[in-house]
Amino acid sequence: MTRLDRVEQTSGPAGPPLTPRTAVVWSVLRAELDRRAAAELTVLDVGGGTGGFAVPLALAGHRVTVVDASPDALAALSRRAAEAGVPERVRAVQGDGDALAGLVEPASVDLVLCHAVLEVVDDPVPVVSALAGALRPGGAASVLVAGRAAAVLGRAMNGHLDVAAALAADAAGSAGPRDTLRRRFDAEAAAALLATAGLAVEEVHGVRVLADLLPAAVADGQLGALVELERTLAARSPWRDVAAQLHLFARRPA
Ligand SMILES: C[S@@+](CC[C@H](N)C(=O)[O-])C[C@H]1O[C@@H](n2cnc3c(N)ncnc32)[C@H](O)[C@@H]1O
Repeated sequence: MTRLDRVEQTSGPAGPPLTPRTAVVWSVLRAELDRRAAAELTVLDVGGGTGGFAVPLALAGHRVTVVDASPDALAALSRRAAEAGVPERVRAVQGDGDALAGLVEPASVDLVLCHAVLEVVDDPVPVVSALAGALRPGGAASVLVAGRAAAVLGRAMNGHLDVAAALAADAAGSAGPRDTLRRRFDAEAAAALLATAGLAVEEVHGVRVLADLLPAAVADGQLGALVELERTLAARSPWRDVAAQLHLFARRPA
């Protein structure tokens, strides 16, 4: 668990934890949940891991299926859902995002999440196509991807100019075989990827514009102010474009 995960600030007794990693995404999701206020939504979280989003969504009254490649993550998810009192609302499915189309019924989902996954799968094109295919017409997709610009700046500021140059030059935004990520995105490329699958991109936000750049004492000591500032900067260029992650909210046309 990283420092940013540990320094959680709750939004209230019933709300999900809000951190620089999650606050902007929850703001966007909240608007969609409010728009569908009376409905019990069917949610699919691809690569949902230990349920950081799935369990709060289940607590909010929705039914969530998490497809993840890791049995350990799914075991932790099931424990977390049980501890939260919502085991019947969270279904854990071990599977590969690259083979999603065979795991989920077409046009059966109201909201699909795919956070921090497209940068690690073999090929993001069929995964995004499967996400779109799983959505009912009018359903929404929340997609979070690694940003290339932040990675270039981060490597350069740490003195790794060769890695920064490789990241900036590589078509996929990877620094090569030793890179932990297969690819990184800028906002235009990520939006184009979703559009190729027939999804209409409605919003793009930056996540962690500042959080990774600040000294720990500042990030930990002024967490509330940091979360607020992240929210303020998230939709605005140039800050959005240099965020560590880019969040895209898209919809399958009705
Ligand atoms: C960086 S974690 C993100 C977890 C969660 N979505 C979040 O944002 O906190 C990536 C997750 O994707 C899962 N994963 C990686 N490759 C996958 C694949 N090909 N198919 C399904 N899940 C995958 C991992 O097991 C892990 O739980």
